[in-house]
Amino acid sequence: MNRGVRYWGGMILLAAGLSAGLFASLMRKSGSSQDHVPIVQSRAQAAVTVQICAECHAEIVASFASAPHGRTLHRGDEPEILARFAGRSFQFPGSSTRIEFHADAGKLSLTSSTFAQSLPVDWIFGSGTHAQTPLILWNDARGQTSAIEHSVSWYAGGQIAATLGMDGLKASVGGEALGRHWGTAETANCFGCHATYVPAQEGQIDFDHLQPNIGCVRCHFDAATHARGMAGGAETKPIERFAALTPAESVFRCGECHRRAGELGGELKADDPTIVRFASVGLPQSPCFQRQAEVTLANGKPARLDCTTCHDPHRPTEQDWRNHTRVCLECHDSAQGRAIDCTHAPRTENCLKCHMPAVPSNDFLNFTDHWIRVR
Ligand code: HEC
Ligand code: HEC
Ligand code: HEC
Ligand code: HEC
Ligand code: HEC
Ligand code: HEC
Ligand code: HEC
Repeated sequence: MNRGVRYWGGMILLAAGLSAGLFASLMRKSGSSQDHVPIVQSRAQAAVTVQICAECHAEIVASFASAPHGRTLHRGDEPEILARFAGRSFQFPGSSTRIEFHADAGKLSLTSSTFAQSLPVDWIFGSGTHAQTPLILWNDARGQTSAIEHSVSWYAGGQIAATLGMDGLKASVGGEALGRHWGTAETANCFGCHATYVPAQEGQIDFDHLQPNIGCVRCHFDAATHARGMAGGAETKPIERFAALTPAESVFRCGECHRRAGELGGELKADDPTIVRFASVGLPQSPCFQRQAEVTLANGKPARLDCTTCHDPHRPTEQDWRNHTRVCLECHDSAQGRAIDCTHAPRTENCLKCHMPAVPSNDFLNFTDHWIRVR
């Protein structure tokens, strides 16, 4: 998750509502203390809410509520969150470090064998389609919002286990075992990619007015004007359509959060295991993406490949491989003079298995390799 986001350490941490002494033990060893500008800029103003769109786009708004984009961020007092975490515990294998989750006055909190005090969990990241990770918040000495991405997560198979990349985090003392420590800019980035509007003043996030989840206007930038115009019966400019963007522009838009190739730095190599996490980095490397203009579809239209060819961002992800391979076969059909056929498997096979496989990132989490290629 955090590749391309720089680590910001070395702050003196002072917890809101917790004793300075206890929280001093959460401190990381001093490093260079540098401010970074958040890479994800929240909207400047509170966004119009989904309800406004529902008036005319009821079906999309209804399906969106169950889509992962509509559920990227949760509060620690939601019943579903409590049902998944409270009363459960995790012991890091080969160590005495043990984390326990509790319901504390209707809100999630956790205790660690490495840390003396129970810590409130204000926010949980992720829809749960793949995983959910608690975030522990506090204000640093300057009153700015900082966070710990917790070392233990809930996985879609129901397991409670180490957060991706944190299996090794089992220091037996202090705050280290609690997870990855993030400064103000990185904390703002977490919320920036998982929320619609993140108001902040002088580095302190205003959680009372934060709008969680990826609302309509995060992707449809001009939707507020559109909604007002439509309601008034006088829209001056039609709303932007993704189909009018070039495939590269369209992928770039999703890449604001799903990452862009330029952010990773250096030459991209197909065998780099981190790329699999970032669909919008992988897909544009595929010959299918780069040479799509060469293909004319059966309906006479030029072929088009971007994220929306396979994904409807308003709905849960299509799980049936047949609906994905249909996309492959629309282009790959040498009998019709389109792109070449597979030299290895018949057209009835599941192309994804070999050319877009799910790659395990840890015991409970897979990502789909979107760099389509002969492997
Ligand atoms: C008063 C009714 C109304 C409201 C409110 C409204 N829309 Fe629309 N919207 C429409 C109509 C009608 C169209 C089709 C008109 C057109 O094609 O230009 C449309 C078209 C769109 C399109 C483009 C469809 C395409 O063909 O690509 C998008 C995207 C969209 N709306 C998003 C939104 C969002 C997001 C909101 C909430 C912020 C919203 N709309 C609020 C009536 C409305
Ligand atoms: C504002 C940030 C943001 C933007 C922009 C964005 N996404 Fe996402 N997307 C997310 C987050 C966060 C998740 C993780 C949801 C979760 O926790 O499961 C996600 C998840 C997904 C998933 C996986 C859903 C699943 O079943 O797990 C797909 C597919 C997806 N996005 C496609 C897109 C496409 C296509 C676009 C561009 C049209 C796009 N996203 C733009 C933030 C964004
Ligand atoms: C640049 C945008 C961006 C930032 C910054 C970001 N996320 Fe995400 N996050 C995403 C996207 C996109 C997804 C869905 C695809 C994926 O998993 O990479 C996601 C998925 C997740 C998930 C669901 C599980 C999973 O792996 O799919 C969790 C949990 C999560 N993020 C937590 C965090 C936390 C905690 C932070 C801050 C330390 C953070 N994210 C920062 C964009 C971002
Ligand atoms: C993650 C980005 C993203 C979010 C969030 C998002 N949309 Fe869209 N929306 C898209 C894309 C991309 C398309 C074009 C889809 C395509 O070309 O298949 C689209 C198309 C549409 C359309 C026209 C196509 C259709 O299916 O009728 C409407 C209307 C629309 N969106 C409304 C909304 C509303 C309302 C919301 C909030 C509930 C919303 N969108 C949230 C990315 C997004
Ligand atoms: C050729 C079809 C295809 C295209 C194009 C495509 N995806 Fe996917 N994507 C898939 C499949 C298949 C899955 C796995 C679905 C499943 O079974 O859960 C997937 C899964 C995902 C997931 C969930 C996490 C994972 O890795 O499994 C995210 C996030 C995602 N896609 C984002 C994107 C984005 C962003 C784009 C555009 C850059 C994109 N996808 C383009 C087919 C596609
Ligand atoms: C928009 C059209 C289009 C779509 C959709 C598409 N491809 Fe391709 N693909 C191409 C073109 C064009 C080439 C280059 C063919 C050539 O070398 O002559 C290509 C090349 C390939 C190659 C060879 C890659 C290499 O390493 O040389 C594979 C494998 C492949 N595609 C598999 C797939 C699979 C699997 C899917 C569906 C998940 C898919 N393609 C979807 C157009 C497409
Ligand atoms: C069992 C694994 C497997 C499946 C399933 C599979 N492929 Fe392949 N594909 C391969 C291998 C291996 C190669 C390389 C063959 C070679 O180099 O001789 C290949 C080559 C290709 C090529 C490049 C052909 C060339 O002449 O360079 C394309 C295009 C392709 N596959 C598309 C697809 C499509 C589309 C599907 C789904 C209908 C598919 N493949 C299903 C394993 C598979």
